[in-house]
Amino acid sequence: MKIHVLVFGLFMLHGLIRSQAALVRYNFVVQETSYTRLCSSKNILTVNGQYPGPTISARRGDTVIVDVINQATQNITIHWHGVKLPRYPWSDGPEFITQCPIQPGARFSQKIILSNEEGTLWWHAHSDWSRATVHGLLVVSPKIGTTFPFPKPHAEIPVILGDWWKNDIQTVMEDFMRRGGDPAPSDALTINGQPGDLYNCSRLGTTKINVDKGKTYMLRMANAAMNNIMFFAIANHELIVVGTDGAYTKPLKTNYLAISPGQTIDVLLTANQPRGRFYMAAKFYNSNPRSIFDNTTTTAIIKYNGKYTTSTPSPALPRLPAFNDRKASTRFTSSLRSLATTDHPIDVPMTISRKLLYTLSINTLPCASNTTCYGPRGNRFSASINNITFDDPKTSLLGAYYRRINGVYGDEFPDNPPFAFDYTAINLNSSLQTPKNATEVKILKYNDTVELVFQGTNVVSGIEHPMHMHGYSFYVVGSGFGNFDRKRDPLNYNLVDPPLRQTIAVPQNGWTAIRFRANNPGVWFMHCHFERHVSWGMETVFIVKNGKGAHERMLPPPKDMPKC
Ligand code: C2O
Ligand code: CU
Repeated sequence: MKIHVLVFGLFMLHGLIRSQAALVRYNFVVQETSYTRLCSSKNILTVNGQYPGPTISARRGDTVIVDVINQATQNITIHWHGVKLPRYPWSDGPEFITQCPIQPGARFSQKIILSNEEGTLWWHAHSDWSRATVHGLLVVSPKIGTTFPFPKPHAEIPVILGDWWKNDIQTVMEDFMRRGGDPAPSDALTINGQPGDLYNCSRLGTTKINVDKGKTYMLRMANAAMNNIMFFAIANHELIVVGTDGAYTKPLKTNYLAISPGQTIDVLLTANQPRGRFYMAAKFYNSNPRSIFDNTTTTAIIKYNGKYTTSTPSPALPRLPAFNDRKASTRFTSSLRSLATTDHPIDVPMTISRKLLYTLSINTLPCASNTTCYGPRGNRFSASINNITFDDPKTSLLGAYYRRINGVYGDEFPDNPPFAFDYTAINLNSSLQTPKNATEVKILKYNDTVELVFQGTNVVSGIEHPMHMHGYSFYVVGSGFGNFDRKRDPLNYNLVDPPLRQTIAVPQNGWTAIRFRANNPGVWFMHCHFERHVSWGMETVFIVKNGKGAHERMLPPPKDMPKC
């Protein structure tokens, strides 16, 4: 359901058609819907009965109103991943950070204020693990009268990567939380909600994409999977990346790509092969050889239009990097560059007022007495940033900040790890494993220029962390393996055309440096986009204070904010 209202309409100006930002409206009815995959049926949470959910389409600078109506039996919130919502965190969505959940029977009208985002973004549920099935694309097209910084593709094709459990996702999450170990691996990976030909009972549903020989298509990709980075490729076809996370990149030619949960990638695909059928395929990248993970491969079919005979019964499969190919994963991610042209300029902070170093660790906690835990050595898994495992408040942190309610959070999140050690050493003392529980936030002044270095550690076990920040895009100015070296590493920063992202995979036992200007006042969640790590507490909050000017202050809340 979509209604377009042109706020100021189209009007002629000196013979040019100019347009003002439009107001776009959608209804999102959250409901339980029965779906069958892998010969097994279950009720899943959906928006409007669709899995994946409906695509929101808008243009750069538009405002979208989504009326979210909860007709399901559990609480829900919805997040617009990658939308900065200038001065308006009220619609952002993370449960107990910017809002109380929308309860069964309740509704919440969310205002999505687009600004300079252009490209593919997505939306997803942001409470418990319901985003497994409650997600969809949010496509931001160029303004009327402007166009892509590349030839207009013949058509746009959504490619949403995901994963599927035969079991109910809420049960998967609750079992995982109770047992204290790793979650049960998924039963299938999916492309646009379908596992594809390589799984039982799945052939009929396999996603098929028809293409005309000679035409170029834009794949609008998102990784909606819960817990893993994915490799993706198309047999015999080269991919050209032209955008990531709602910002254009210099065209990057590649045979495969690595995409972490939370990330979106815009890819050009030219149908320049002999007419035929070709698989696109995706599988997990998994750097920890000891962990149990879903090692299956999802496929969809690219089918050339026209008459031809195929000699082989099934389409060709692309070659994907090996499961543990850490180099392939980081090589792709570190090859991306901002477009950085006059039409699409960049604005990297050159002088820094706040330098932050955040360690990202997997931790363990002792198992409660009389229970069995399935984490390392009978302990329970946990996770932390600067050794703090974030305790979610029971009410909206944003509401508490806005109304100056004490006791909901502390403002002493440390700028640096509480103690320094050789973060990425092979054998680390087990005394480093126990984190501290707290609800601490970092306060930033309006217009602070921030450099934040994420340092992955090898505490318990080193792994990638796709770190995502709400309310901001940030420039990824550097990354590497091992410990960040404050003297040496900044000399190699890319301050010329670093990619602008909202989610960045910090390498396993490595570091990533990002920069941003704190010019969006509000309360903004920052967390790993692996769902199991969020559940273990790898999350924190930035509060960006108001500036002095009238347009440097948070807007007031809407009347219909959900109540706890
Ligand atoms: Cu895509 Cu806080 O999330
Ligand atoms: Cu993580």
